[in-house]
Amino acid sequence: PRCYALVPCAGVGERSGAAGPKQYEMLAGRSVVAHTLEALAAVPRLAGTLVVLAPNDSRFETAAPGFAGWVARVGGASRAASVANGLAALVEQGAQPHDWVLVHDAARCLLRPEWVDALIDACFDDEVGGLLALPVADTLKEEAEGRSVATLDRRAKWQAQTPQMFRLGLLRPALAHGGDAVTDEASAIEALGHRPRLVTGALENFKITYPQDFVLAERLLRTR
Ligand code: CTP
Ligand code: MG
Repeated sequence: PRCYALVPCAGVGERSGAAGPKQYEMLAGRSVVAHTLEALAAVPRLAGTLVVLAPNDSRFETAAPGFAGWVARVGGASRAASVANGLAALVEQGAQPHDWVLVHDAARCLLRPEWVDALIDACFDDEVGGLLALPVADTLKEEAEGRSVATLDRRAKWQAQTPQMFRLGLLRPALAHGGDAVTDEASAIEALGHRPRLVTGALENFKITYPQDFVLAERLLRTR
């Protein structure tokens, strides 16, 4: 099987506080998505990368000059819809059901090629696939009406990251079944009764979500 990367890049970045979509903010001289795509381009085992843009996107070409992969202007109303539409575009490019798809957030721009390699190493011979994730470090509280009502056992809790690596032929029906509510691929796969492998990611592989994330990301990129 081949491995493909699929990068959802069609969000509006509501929580980021930026004037436009967060994937086009500049960090250390390059756009967020340019950093992301550069890391993926340094993974030789990827047979190709497909970026999913919003249909009215006018910024990608300037933000990621020289990008050598495929672009599909099929972004949907949710991340799940953008990924599902992107999978259909990958099929049009010749991807087969048994091929692996590594879905990676455009906004996770501190990605390192080594982490992608580690995920592929851990999952390539797996039945189902898996994802980068990190054990939760903080004590977890259950809230009701602004008060902490219980402390959860954090030992078996992990935070999901991306890439998330699944077979095209399993991920398509899983997302079709999961609808717009799923915020990652693994949850759609779990809903079909499968158990994705958890592969240790990195603290640095955080997603730009809030305004302060730009500050931290820029500092880390500048000291690499
Ligand atoms: N994404 C997408 N299509 C959507 C929503 C999100 O392709 N309809 C992409 C984003 O561009 C991002 C990734 O999915 O790279 C992770 O989503 P998230 O961090 O939620 O980004 P946004 O939805 O853009 O941000 P927010 O939820 O704050 O609006
Ligand atoms: Mg979102």
